[in-house]
Order: sequence, then C-alpha cells, then structure tokens
Amino acid sequence: MATLGVNIDHVATLRQARRTVEPDPVWAASLAELGGADAITVHLREDRRHIQDRDLEVLRRTVQVKLNLEAAIAPAMIEIACRVKPDQVTLVPEKREEITTEGGLDVVAHRAATAAAVERLHAAGIVVSLFIDPSPTQIEAAVDLGVAAVELHTGEYANAATDAARHAELVELSRGAAMVRQAKLGLNAGHGLTYRNVSPVARLEGMGELNIGHSIVSRAVLVGFIQAVREMKSLLS
Ligand code: PXP
Repeated sequence: MATLGVNIDHVATLRQARRTVEPDPVWAASLAELGGADAITVHLREDRRHIQDRDLEVLRRTVQVKLNLEAAIAPAMIEIACRVKPDQVTLVPEKREEITTEGGLDVVAHRAATAAAVERLHAAGIVVSLFIDPSPTQIEAAVDLGVAAVELHTGEYANAATDAARHAELVELSRGAAMVRQAKLGLNAGHGLTYRNVSPVARLEGMGELNIGHSIVSRAVLVGFIQAVREMKSLLS
C-alpha cells in the first residue's frame, strides 16, 4: 500500500501572506500526524516564499514520522540539510519565478552538481530521493547516482487535458515505475495529485510514498470553514 507524505508548504504560504504567526505549519504537521500521515514533507525554497528556516528546525524536533525535506541542489541548501538532518532529502529543481516546481530535476543535464549534492548528503547519513520525470534516461541517471529512491513527477498526468492524454501519462508512469522497481530503488511519486486523480497512481505496483500538498491544504481550508465561522460567531454573541 502506498504511504502518504503530507506536504505542508501551503500552510506556510498562507502565513507568509500576512507575515504573521498563523497558521503555523508546525501545528499542521502535528495534525497531519494525528490524521495518519506517514511522512511530513516541506520544501525550504531558496527564496523562502513559504517554509522558513525556523519551521524546518522546529519540525526536526517535533515530527515523529519521517521528515522529508525537498531542496534544490545548491550547496547552501545542501549545507542546511546536512545540519538539520531530515530523514530524507528529495532533490528538486528550483527556478525563482516559477509558481510551483515545474517538471522533475534534470539529473542528466545537472549530473555533476547532483552527484556532489548526493555525496554530501550520503556522508551526513541522509537518505536521498531524486524528483525526476518518469523518462528512461532520467531513471537510468538516477540509478547511476546511487540514490535510495526516486520520486516520479506526476504533474503531466495531473495536468492532462483529456482522458486519453491522462491515460498515456499513466502508462508512462507505469513504465517508469517498472524500471525503478527493477533497479530496486524506492518508488515515490507526487505533484498535482488530488482526491480525484490519486487512485490510479496509488495502485501502481510497488508504489511507496505519495507526496501531496496543495489538494490536502485546499480541502482542509474548506472542510474547516464552517466550524471556523461558527467559532467566531459564538464570540460575538
Ligand atoms: N513532490 C514534489 C517534489 C514537489 O515539489 C511538490 C510540490 O511542492 C509536491 C510533491 C506536492 O505537490 P502538490 O502540492 O501539487 O500536491
């Protein structure tokens, strides 16, 4: 059965919209654990647009399940990871102007820098996963780099405009998953997964961790809305 890594970045996005203290992603992590999350995932971006250094440090001390840090291959980020020591680092691409992570890390084009990051993280005893597109060349390069796991990018599947296109992307993911299994790497996946589209990906043979953020945080805002309004209303009476 696939496991669930809850990405809490967007709780921090909401807090950063006001540069205040609420909602605290650390609280969200605890609640996610109570809900059964198998892992807590955060992306400490170089531009610090949502998760802050303080969040990562407090999460390292409070998260009881697996803490998965998404980070760019930049040396400064790897240094932070080696100091904080999350259970797993998932290396991701990062561009300042993007709205969210677009596509997997190109480990063929950035082979030397990725290898250097992987080596430093391994020396610090941290498990490394590479967030890559489900293409044979990317998977082969990831296997060569000696990482424990890959996270297959499900964005193309999630964004497919038609059923036929979605099916084609699922076939790609399924082929990629078979290669990953054959190489005996851990098989993770994520990006753009929702309550509607997650099941076929969760059913892929050997699927490990699914990292899901936006859809869970979006639903949390709406399912909690009535109670939040009622609580404010009761203070007025
Ligand atoms: N996995 C990776 C590597 C990501 O970068 C993200 C987005 O930060 C996710 C999973 C979660 O994606 P979403 O927020 O669309 O569920």
